[in-house]
Amino acid sequence: MTKVRYLRNALRIAAAPLLAAALLAACDGSSSSAAQAASQSAVKPGSADQLALGRYLTNAADCAACHTTATGAAFAGGVELASPFGKFYGSNITPDKQHGIGKWSADQFYKALHDGVTPDKHLYPAMPYTSYRSMTRADSDAIYAYLMQQKPVAVPSKEADLKFPYNMRFGMMFWNVPFLKNSLTDASTGQSPAWLRGQYLSNALGHCAECHSPRGVFGQLDLSKPLTGAALGRVAAPNITPAGLAAVGWTAADLQTFFSTGIAPQGSAYGEMFPVVHLSTQYLSKDDLNAVITYLMGDKPLPPEPVKTITADATELDAGKRLYTAVCAGCHGFQGDGKAHVAVAMKGNSTVRNADPHNLIVTMLDGIEAQKFPGTESLQDMPAFSGQLSDKELAQLTNFLRATWGGQAADITPDRIKAMRLTTAH
Ligand code: HEC
Ligand code: HEC
Ligand code: HEC
Repeated sequence: MTKVRYLRNALRIAAAPLLAAALLAACDGSSSSAAQAASQSAVKPGSADQLALGRYLTNAADCAACHTTATGAAFAGGVELASPFGKFYGSNITPDKQHGIGKWSADQFYKALHDGVTPDKHLYPAMPYTSYRSMTRADSDAIYAYLMQQKPVAVPSKEADLKFPYNMRFGMMFWNVPFLKNSLTDASTGQSPAWLRGQYLSNALGHCAECHSPRGVFGQLDLSKPLTGAALGRVAAPNITPAGLAAVGWTAADLQTFFSTGIAPQGSAYGEMFPVVHLSTQYLSKDDLNAVITYLMGDKPLPPEPVKTITADATELDAGKRLYTAVCAGCHGFQGDGKAHVAVAMKGNSTVRNADPHNLIVTMLDGIEAQKFPGTESLQDMPAFSGQLSDKELAQLTNFLRATWGGQAADITPDRIKAMRLTTAH
C-alpha cells in the first residue's frame, strides 16, 4: 500500500461518523471474594485492599502476557507480538522513572488504557485498549497502584518494528475515530448479575475478543461477528459463541475445569490460549469464572451437541487408523481416551470436533511444547510430525480423527496439509 493510498484511506476513515458515546453499563456483578467486593465500592487509595484488588485485576486483564518475558523482570516489557503489520513489543510498565511509567499520574495511566494515548504518543492497538476502554476508573486506579509497587527496572522499551506505512504513529489518530468503540458487541444474551459481571470480565479485562473475534483490513475488531473465531497466530482462536461452544461439546462445568486447570475432557489449552490460562484465568475466583462462562454461554445455555456419526471411505479410514495406532496411540490411547498425566483424549476433543481442521493439522505438523499446568500437572511435549509424516499420511490421519471422534467429514486432501506446512519447499 502506498503512502498516498494509505492517507486517502485514513481520511476516509476519519470522515466516518463517530459512534454516539454510549455510557458504560456499571458492573454490578455478584461477588464473594474480598478483591471483588473491593471492586464494587471505592477502595482507599494506597490501602492493602486496593493493592490486592490491583493484583487480582492485573491477572484478570493478563497484562503480564505482553509485558513480562519468560526470562525478564516482571512488567519490564520486551514481549514480541507478531502481526501482519510488523512486530510490536510490550513496553516497560514498571515504575522506572526513565524507561517505565514512574513519572505517570493515575490520570495519564487511565488515558493509556482508555484512549490508547500516553503522555508522548498514540499507542498501537496491539496494546488492547479497544477492550480496556471499558475498564472502570476505580479498576484502572487499582492496577496503577499495584504496578507502582513493583520493582522499577531500567530497561528501555523496544520501539515497534513495522512496515511502512503502519510505522507512522499519527495514523492511529485516524484509526481511533471509527474503530475505538465504547463497548464491544455481545455474542450471547443475558441480563443476570453473573452475565453482566462476565461481560465486564471478558470484554474490559480478559480481552477475549482481541483473539477470538475476526478483524478487518485495518486490524480492527469486526464487531458484527463477536467471538466467532479468528486466526491471528499459527494456532487459530476458535469460535466461542454459545453455538460454537455447544457444537464441540462444551458444558459450563467443563469450561470451569478448562479455565482453572487448562485441561478438560474437551482438551488442553495450547498456543496463545495457554498463557491466558497460565497467567490469568487460573487466578479468577470461582464466582468470577462462573460469570465469564455465563457470559460466554448466555443466561440460557445451549445443550452440548453429541458427536455426529459419519460415514466415510473405509480404505481411507483404515489407513488413518493404522497410522494413529503406530504414532499417536502410545500417548493418546488406542481408543482415543487419552492417558492421565500423559496426553489428552482425542475422542470428543474440541480441536478434533472443530469443523475447521486448521488447529488439528497445525498441532500434528508443529507439535506442542511441554507445558506446566496450574497445580502440579505438567504434560510432556507433543512431538512435531511435519518431518516424519507425508502430506498424504497426515491427511489420512486428519480424516480418521475427524470421522471417528470428531463427527466431521473426512474430506481433507493432502494439498490442504501441504498448504499449511511452515517450511516452504521450493
Ligand atoms: C496483547 C498484548 C498486551 C496486553 C495484554 C497488554 N498490553 Fe500494554 N502494551 C502492549 C504493547 C504492544 C504496547 C506498546 C504499543 C506501542 O508501541 O504503541 C503496550 C503499551 C502499554 C503502555 C504504554 C507504555 C509507554 O511507556 O508508552 C502501558 C501503560 C500499558 N501497555 C499498560 C498495560 C496494562 C496495565 C495492561 C493490563 C491491564 C496491558 N498493558 C496489557 C501490549 C499489551
Ligand atoms: C509423546 C506423546 C504424544 C504423541 C506421540 C502424540 N501426542 Fe498429541 N498431544 C500430546 C500432549 C501431551 C498434548 C497436550 C499438550 C499440551 O497442551 O500441553 C497433545 C495434544 C494434541 C492435540 C491438541 C488437542 C488438545 O486438546 O491439546 C492434538 C490434536 C493431538 N495431540 C493429536 C495427535 C496426533 C494426531 C498424534 C499422532 C500423529 C499425536 N497427537 C501424537 C502428546 C502426544
Ligand atoms: C492471546 C489470544 C487469546 C486470548 C486473549 C484468549 N484466547 Fe481463548 N484461545 C486462543 C487460542 C489460540 C485458542 C485455541 C487453542 C486451545 O484450544 O487452547 C483458544 C481456545 C479457547 C477455548 C477453547 C475452545 C475450543 O473449542 O477448544 C476457550 C473456551 C477460550 N479460548 C476462551 C477464552 C476466553 C473466555 C478468553 C478471555 C478470558 C480467551 N479465550 C482469551 C487464544 C486466545
